[in-house]
Amino acid sequence: MVSRVIPVDEFDLVIFGATGDLARRKILPGLYRRFLAGQMPENARIIGAARSEMDDAGFKTLVREAIDEFVDKSKRDAEQIDSFVSRLAYVPIDATGEGGWDSLKQLVRQDVVQAFYFSVAPSLFGALAERLHSNNIANSLARIVVEKPFGRDLATAKALNATLAEHFHETQIYRIDHYLGKETVQNLMAVRFANILFEPLWNSQYIDHVQITVAETVGVGGRGAYYDRSGAMRDMVQNHLMQLLCLIAMEPPYHFDPNAVRDEKLKVIRALQPVPADDIVRGQYLGHKRSDGTGVPGFVEDAENPTTKTESYIAMKAEIANWRWKGTPFYLRTGKKLRARTSEIAITFKEPPHSIFDAAEGWRENVLVIRLQPNEGMNLKVMIKEPGPGGMRLVQVPLDMSFAEALGEGGTDIPDAYERLIMDVIRGDQTLFMRGDEVEAAWEWADPIINGWETRGDKPQGYDAGTSGPEDALMLMHRDGRRWREIKE
Ligand code: BG6
Repeated sequence: MVSRVIPVDEFDLVIFGATGDLARRKILPGLYRRFLAGQMPENARIIGAARSEMDDAGFKTLVREAIDEFVDKSKRDAEQIDSFVSRLAYVPIDATGEGGWDSLKQLVRQDVVQAFYFSVAPSLFGALAERLHSNNIANSLARIVVEKPFGRDLATAKALNATLAEHFHETQIYRIDHYLGKETVQNLMAVRFANILFEPLWNSQYIDHVQITVAETVGVGGRGAYYDRSGAMRDMVQNHLMQLLCLIAMEPPYHFDPNAVRDEKLKVIRALQPVPADDIVRGQYLGHKRSDGTGVPGFVEDAENPTTKTESYIAMKAEIANWRWKGTPFYLRTGKKLRARTSEIAITFKEPPHSIFDAAEGWRENVLVIRLQPNEGMNLKVMIKEPGPGGMRLVQVPLDMSFAEALGEGGTDIPDAYERLIMDVIRGDQTLFMRGDEVEAAWEWADPIINGWETRGDKPQGYDAGTSGPEDALMLMHRDGRRWREIKE
């Protein structure tokens, strides 16, 4: 099954910050892959804009290098790359000054879909938005795309929303959370709302608890300064894990429509309870030095801050106070430098109300595991009778489905989250983007949690790189008579 390519209208996409890391790693290679898939109209154009002095040829070289580095070899075709880069142009621009805006105006067409990707520091969002209007570049339907971090607390998020709202209507603002662009994340909605099977059981009567794990093997080396100001709570939980939690916990929207979906997610965020200090474990990865002076840097070294109290790991128990979920905890954890790179959601069901087997030997709970990465797929653990004449002994077996196997080529050739989301922007579909009120509600929940440990001056617990995180995180589950699933690929 090969994935369907939905055509989009002709567009001009301007990428501010086009020479930056995100543009090189994700946005430009993603656009090339969409071009290869045949999704880019004949006259679509991509205009890079950044501070660096460079001409079109220089930018084209930069994009060719990015494709070489970040696009799979099997997809690098010299002729196709030539054709792709022929659509590129570059304008050196001063986001806070006047330089370059006239040239940009000459390039951007008024009668096509306009999209402006703000791949720059949030402090520049206001200046860019203002200049796009004062220079009469953006038309009344123009879309802007903004990246996280969307604020660092409620006050800054509100200020950012207000700044953008001065120049753009909410329907024009696309706040990216790239987790929403991941194939399996969208599949959560398909699994829940396109099957009758799960939904009747999807509540606290039948679900014991939910575990959401996003484990990474990388550290923060290279972006230590940013990360030290942010930490796992702001970098991952307030946005990515929150979005996953919303998709699992939300009520069925009346339609798969941007505002219907986002209304339901917002209700979940608003129903999240404050998290007491006892229900949170923060960790920081440790480095080690050998006697010969070599070694592995710890978080302190990566952040270049010997007194840092920022967490590179967090685990917490979150509770949703509504009819569906009261009494079913959601355990969240995410961290850097852990044993394996794996992201999954595990839904553990309750015991059957009554066992008809005398000794239910071997019985274990049903678990539905949704694997986001790697090896995207689903696994439902069910009980059956152990084969053989040994009486009624039970054994748990997996009903395992990997997208790659189930869907053939369509399951392996999954577009990267960014390329899908950029095409949604061009199509004008906001379903997988965060609305302003959603972001603010997420900060409203996160702020008191962060303020709590900052006021108390809590220091995260050290953990060795390559492990499952700090010891105390185990206790978070043990004391409730539960345990974390093993972190493994
Ligand atoms: C980013 C965070 O938003 O997501 C990073 O800033 C993190 O710290 C990354 O590594 C994880 O994304 P993915 O798609 O690799 O799981």
